[in-house]
Amino acid sequence: MKRDILLLENIHVEAEPALKDAGIKIRREGGTLEEQALVDAIGASSMIGIRSRTQMTESVIQAAPNLEAIACFCIGTNQVDLKAAASKGVAVFNSPFCNTRSVAEMTIAEIIGLQRGLFDKNSAMHRGQWDKSAVDSHEVRGRTLGIVGYGHIGSQVSVLAEALGMRVIYFDIVPKMAMGNARSVDSLKKLLSESDVVTLHVPETAETRNMIDAAAIKRMKHGAMLINNSRGSIVDLDALAEALQDGRIGGAAVDVYPTEPRSGKDEFQCALSGLPSVIMTPHIGGSTEEAQIAIAREVSMKLVGFQDRGTTTSAVNIPEVELPHRREGQDRILHFHHNVPGVLSKMHGILAEGRVNIHAEYLQSTGDLSYVILDVDHLQDGTVLDRFADMDETIRLKLLS
Ligand code: NAI
Repeated sequence: MKRDILLLENIHVEAEPALKDAGIKIRREGGTLEEQALVDAIGASSMIGIRSRTQMTESVIQAAPNLEAIACFCIGTNQVDLKAAASKGVAVFNSPFCNTRSVAEMTIAEIIGLQRGLFDKNSAMHRGQWDKSAVDSHEVRGRTLGIVGYGHIGSQVSVLAEALGMRVIYFDIVPKMAMGNARSVDSLKKLLSESDVVTLHVPETAETRNMIDAAAIKRMKHGAMLINNSRGSIVDLDALAEALQDGRIGGAAVDVYPTEPRSGKDEFQCALSGLPSVIMTPHIGGSTEEAQIAIAREVSMKLVGFQDRGTTTSAVNIPEVELPHRREGQDRILHFHHNVPGVLSKMHGILAEGRVNIHAEYLQSTGDLSYVILDVDHLQDGTVLDRFADMDETIRLKLLS
């Protein structure tokens, strides 16, 4: 059985040890590839590893006869047609939380930077201006930080901010246990009105779109600061620019924008461009070498689990199924099929007729797709597998022997 992976977009070298140890052959291509070149490069490979720029469209996925897994060595998966992949039983993996710490640390740096006016003072120095003044410069100790969204990143920011002596309050729509002495508040309104710095760590949803608009900004304390390292759609940048210009907001740090350039070659402008007391970064909150290494290790381990055991835990597009290691002398059948009644009993019938005993079995379905792992007696010949393959409902079938 061919076990190989095509790695694109200079995926970190730390992805390689786990893959190599599992006997998976690695091929690399430098950057991203356009559609036809991508199809040609994938060829008969069983896996591909990409980052955010390679477009795994329906036609690319359909044209890859042996593809079993698409590994996104990044956070997002919207560069992959997840439905098309699921319809072929192709698992898509990613690494949603490996850069949590990186975003949290950048947020802390920005809180201090904004409170001390570091970035404006730095720019002034580079222009030859010696502006030695304590006006509007504050310690963060004792100031109130309001965290909106107390998930992976929000709760890390909470711990780090408390270590600096900040008072931390947070608002989340799901009840979350407080870290340290942080205090949960029961509304966004309350959080906005009490915080010296508000930092946003929510996902993009219908509810969070434009969550921080002109009305929300009016609820913030006079001179308070706003940080958005989450998603670009969450803050109305025009309203923020207006509030910064008339001094109601004392400063802002923004890493994400409603529209972001596709590459470094495109020029970038937004409502905040050129305003003082604003730190703008090009969506780099999670971009550190440490995060890249952690992503490389995590995603490659997921691929190995999928190849060696059929494990799909944390796959983003297909049912999550996991069984312990199969026992000596047993075979494992991985079967993706259409989610219709009677498939399992057909499979059981075929096994019973072949006098093959089942030792373990786990099935999950989502939408139109079902995935079952079966540990069975060692198959003496190909009859059982041929009959599974001939079933109308079968999408993809694999034997681990
Ligand atoms: P997470 O899923 O762990 O936490 C999000 C939290 O927000 C959850 O606790 C959830 O209950 C809460 N939430 C959802 N809707 C809410 C609402 N309407 N009001 C209040 N709370 C709400 O996500 P994680 O990993 O902490 O990421 C947070 C954000 O950061 C995401 O938008 C993610 O895309 C973004 N991000 C940005 C990066 C960057 O480079 N700037 C890198 C990594 C993540």
